[in-house]
Amino acid sequence: MKLQFLWCVAAAVLVSVCGEKEESEGARLLVAKHVLNKYLVEDMDVVVKYTVHNIGDSAALEVEITDKSFDSDNFAPVSGEISARFDRVPPKTNVTHTVVVRPTKPGYFNFTSAEVLYRKKEDAPRLQVAASSEPGMAYFTAYKEYDKRFSSHVIDWAAFAVMTLPSLAIPFALWFSSKRKYEKLSKNSKKH
Ligand SMILES: *[C@@H]1O[C@H](CO)[C@@H](O)[C@H](O)[C@H]1NC(C)=O
Ligand SMILES: *[C@@H]1O[C@H](CO)[C@@H](O)[C@H](O)[C@H]1NC(C)=O
Repeated sequence: MKLQFLWCVAAAVLVSVCGEKEESEGARLLVAKHVLNKYLVEDMDVVVKYTVHNIGDSAALEVEITDKSFDSDNFAPVSGEISARFDRVPPKTNVTHTVVVRPTKPGYFNFTSAEVLYRKKEDAPRLQVAASSEPGMAYFTAYKEYDKRFSSHVIDWAAFAVMTLPSLAIPFALWFSSKRKYEKLSKNSKKH
C-alpha cells in the first residue's frame, strides 16, 4: 500500500517534470560584439557591431544593449546612441546594432563585453541578464604614425610608377618607330 503510494508520487513528479520540459523555455539570446575596422587609429572612426541572435523558441522582449566601455577618457563623444533597444526579437532571427566611436589616445585598449537585458517570455517576472562576447585587446595606432606610414606608401607607389615607365616607354617607342617606318614604306609603294 505504502509502496503504491510512493509510485504514485514518483509518477506525479515525473509527469510534472516532463510537463515543464515541454513548456516553452522562452527566448535565449547570444550577443556578439565585433570591431569591424581593419586599422585602429587614434582620431579615426571605429565601427563596432552587435549581433543579437535568438536561439530560443519564443520572441525575446524589451531587449536592451548597454555598453559602458567607451568612456570619455579614451573616446570622443559619439553622435547617436551607444545603447540600443529592440521591442521584440523573434526566435531564430538576428538583429544588429552598429555604433561608431573615435578613440582619442593611442595605445592598448581592452574591448570588453556589453550588457544585455531582455525578457525571456511575456509572463517572465524578471529580466534576463546576459553579456556579449568580448573583442579583447586592441592597439590604437597614433595618428602621426599611421599618416607617416600611409604617405610613405604613396611615395613607394610613385617610385614604382616612375621605375616602370621605361619598361612601358621602350616598347611604345619601338612600336611607334616601326609604325612610322611602315607608314613611310606604304606611302612609297603607293607612289609607284
Ligand atoms: C545569426 O547570427 C549567427 C551568429 O552571428 C549566424 O550564425 C546565423 O547564421 C545568423 N542567422 C541569420 C538568420 O542571419
Ligand atoms: C580585458 O578585460 C576583461 C574583462 O574585464 C578581462 O577579463 C581580461 O583579462 C582583460 N584582458 C586583458 C588582456 O587585460
